[in-house]
Amino acid sequence: MTITAEQMRFWSPAVRELEPYVPGEQPKIQNLLKLNTNENPYPPSPKVVEAVQQVLLNQADALRLYPDPDATALKQAIAQQQGVDVTQVFVGNGSDEVLAHIFKAFFVQEAPLLYPDITYSFYPVYSQFFGIQALQLPLNEQFEIVPEDYKRPNGGIIITNPNAPTSIALGLDAIEEILQANPDSVVLIDEAYVDFGAESAVSLVSKYENLVVCQTTSKSRSLAGLRVGFAIAQPHLIAALEAVKNSFNSYPIDRFAIAAAVASFEDQAYFEQQCQKVIDSRETLVADLEQLGFQVLPSKANFIFATHPQRDAAQLASQLREQGIIVRYFNKPRIDQYLRITIGTDEQNARLVETLKNQILVER
Ligand SMILES: Cc1ncc(COP(=O)(O)O)c(C=O)c1O
Repeated sequence: MTITAEQMRFWSPAVRELEPYVPGEQPKIQNLLKLNTNENPYPPSPKVVEAVQQVLLNQADALRLYPDPDATALKQAIAQQQGVDVTQVFVGNGSDEVLAHIFKAFFVQEAPLLYPDITYSFYPVYSQFFGIQALQLPLNEQFEIVPEDYKRPNGGIIITNPNAPTSIALGLDAIEEILQANPDSVVLIDEAYVDFGAESAVSLVSKYENLVVCQTTSKSRSLAGLRVGFAIAQPHLIAALEAVKNSFNSYPIDRFAIAAAVASFEDQAYFEQQCQKVIDSRETLVADLEQLGFQVLPSKANFIFATHPQRDAAQLASQLREQGIIVRYFNKPRIDQYLRITIGTDEQNARLVETLKNQILVER
């Protein structure tokens, strides 16, 4: 839809300037293999489904009432699973909303917010939205974060671990180095993909008063459709997040989402088993793609970042699409020869590999 300048006069001036985030495609094509938005290929725990059904069966009447604004049951389930105190937990409508509140609560400062040049593309969008000046620090040639670069004046730091879309994880020693060098700034570790093999910084929360760790149920818990994310930090930081949240939306998590997410956090065995399945499938997929000549960055996520020295990445993405397989392509400097491929089931990954081998990479 095209909006004319005349129609735009109704918009707030700041909104006229916005460059919103563009989510990965959610197409409605039959028999499509969707490996473009890092969703989990497996369903959530059966206990999640039961919990949602129970809300309908036993609490349908309660749907006329607002949910618990504090989502206390959910915070307790997260606290227990993460081994922290309930006062150290904040929850929001997807980690995107938690991130937005973190930007507002901590990063609107005189000094610039620091994050890598290649990372989650929502950070520049929030920076613009909140009027935050950001300084994007280049990853090194191997696409790694260089801790030394984060030792300069700043109004906050974001490290995505594992980073996206590179999939590369940073060790906790490097994260501690960054935390120690910045005692007066909040350091956010965005751990959207941490459950697929990286080390979580949640274990450092009691030690560092400037650390916020953000996680999501969208990837490792197969609940992207539910929209539940959370942050773990010391209570003085959680208090700022609650102040922002209660100035924006008091009830971000509905009754279904609370019940379902609680059930997910209570089913640790299913969670661990599903994460391991994705990790195992990732290793097989990496080996298969390397056989086809791809170079794949070392992944600790539920996706891989791959390039083929003889093939143009944009063309590969569109050829895959013609075969009903969608992967994510970013037309951005430094990464325009890479594809981000979400790990599917073994069968789905095999379809990708076979398609590449028999339809796309065949000698012409
Ligand atoms: C690094 C990173 N952080 C946060 C999110 C947001 O996740 P959600 O809002 O589904 O919790 C994503 C989603 O892709 C992500 O890649």
